[in-house]
Amino acid sequence: MGYLLAFTVVLGALLFIYSRLKPTNSRQPPGPWGLPVLGHMHLLGAKPGKTLLKWRKKYGPIVSVRIGKMPAVAISDVYLIQEAFGQRVFSGRPTYKIDEFGKKGIVRGDDIETTEQRKFFHSAFNSKESRDSAEGRIREEVDALIFMKNDKPRDDPQTLEFLQNLSRTIRVPNFIEVIAMFTNFVDFLVKNDRKKNIQDAMSIIKKKFKEHKLTWVPGQPRDLTDAFWDKQDSMAKESPKFRANAEEHFLGSIYDASIAGYDTTSITKEWIFVYLTKFPEVRRKFQEEIDAKVGLDRTPSLSDEPNMPYVQAVLNEVLRISSIGPLSVFHRAMEDVEFKGYFIPKDTIVIGNLYAANWDKDIWGDPHVFRPERFLDSQGNFVQRDELLAFSTGKRLCIGERLARNNMFLFSTIIFQEFNTEFAGTEPSFEGSFGLFSRPYSFSLKFIKRH
Ligand code: HEM
Repeated sequence: MGYLLAFTVVLGALLFIYSRLKPTNSRQPPGPWGLPVLGHMHLLGAKPGKTLLKWRKKYGPIVSVRIGKMPAVAISDVYLIQEAFGQRVFSGRPTYKIDEFGKKGIVRGDDIETTEQRKFFHSAFNSKESRDSAEGRIREEVDALIFMKNDKPRDDPQTLEFLQNLSRTIRVPNFIEVIAMFTNFVDFLVKNDRKKNIQDAMSIIKKKFKEHKLTWVPGQPRDLTDAFWDKQDSMAKESPKFRANAEEHFLGSIYDASIAGYDTTSITKEWIFVYLTKFPEVRRKFQEEIDAKVGLDRTPSLSDEPNMPYVQAVLNEVLRISSIGPLSVFHRAMEDVEFKGYFIPKDTIVIGNLYAANWDKDIWGDPHVFRPERFLDSQGNFVQRDELLAFSTGKRLCIGERLARNNMFLFSTIIFQEFNTEFAGTEPSFEGSFGLFSRPYSFSLKFIKRH
């Protein structure tokens, strides 16, 4: 009797686990078996983008996986990612358990108000004012960092604390931390106090926002925050609902844009240094173009960019090969949906495997080779290639792309106009660290004056 009971309990448990692990609908995409709590995280390993690309041979480009307990579908094909992410139904965001502000914020939200915020930030980031002010800031940054011109006061301690806080929040050193974003089960294994970091960062944003309002003059915007208040007044006439939540949304969006833009830009610049130091021949051609198009009497400016095809090709190749956001930011299916004959239930996480797009052999031929020429035509003109998905694609495409590209261009051309670089100590490997972002392991550089 005892054996029978034990057998029944074990069988029941196995059936329960089986029912949780197998896809609930036979029309869902195929995929390997997962484990309770971990889902497929242990199989995806430290380089999930790479693993999913390998799985493409066995399961095809659309695979069912689980991130901890959260059901997900990963897409590992550039054209399918473009097709899916171009549709509103795949433009939702999952809810993270650390999400103190609900979904009020440009990265985390997916309602109509998020779309309004997105439009507002997008046009602000792409305005002439933003371009000019970014150019000034980048020059100051390079002057302070490399040329040691530290005569101007740098960021105040609160801003520095804010930036360090962002870095601590965004760094995800292992897959347990990814699972911890959705479930309490593994909290005891996680050191990062994200919730507190977010609260601290938000109180700094709120404080600065209040201080700023005291000196705002309507119709004379000095910056993004002033422009927001101006816009809020005009929006109030059209949509009272927008006004009711606008301030909360805006503060969440400031936080989101900071977290989305800060580490990504600095990681990309680290990769530029790694590749241009490791490949002196590419650096030499990069510098020849700077010398030819800019000369030595002035520093490069953003208006030089269109005349510098090789520089553009190098920067695009760094974006491709480093694929710093291999799995993009997770999307969510907003409704039950059919995609390529598969059924994807509402609220499934949808992962665009950008690494798979940027490293697809069928598209790039030799994706593991650092070869900027793949972005040049036979006349040496720069060719923008739509298959490069560094900033994702579709309705949630990164809105900071232009800002980031400006930053990369100015930073790298100003520095390499003046300096050659060598590794001081061990050369870093090309394998980036685990995380939402793939960053090079730490390395030291020597800067050697060219002239
Ligand atoms: C090289 C630097 C950067 C890279 C590689 C990058 C990449 C990405 C990626 C892959 C996404 C996810 C898109 C999706 O969900 O499909 C994203 C979203 C986003 N990025 Fe960037 N980004 C960079 C710099 C920036 C900068 C400088 C800013 C702004 C200051 C920014 C703001 C945003 C925002 C607000 C979103 C969310 C868009 C939305 O959810 O609708 N990014 N970025």
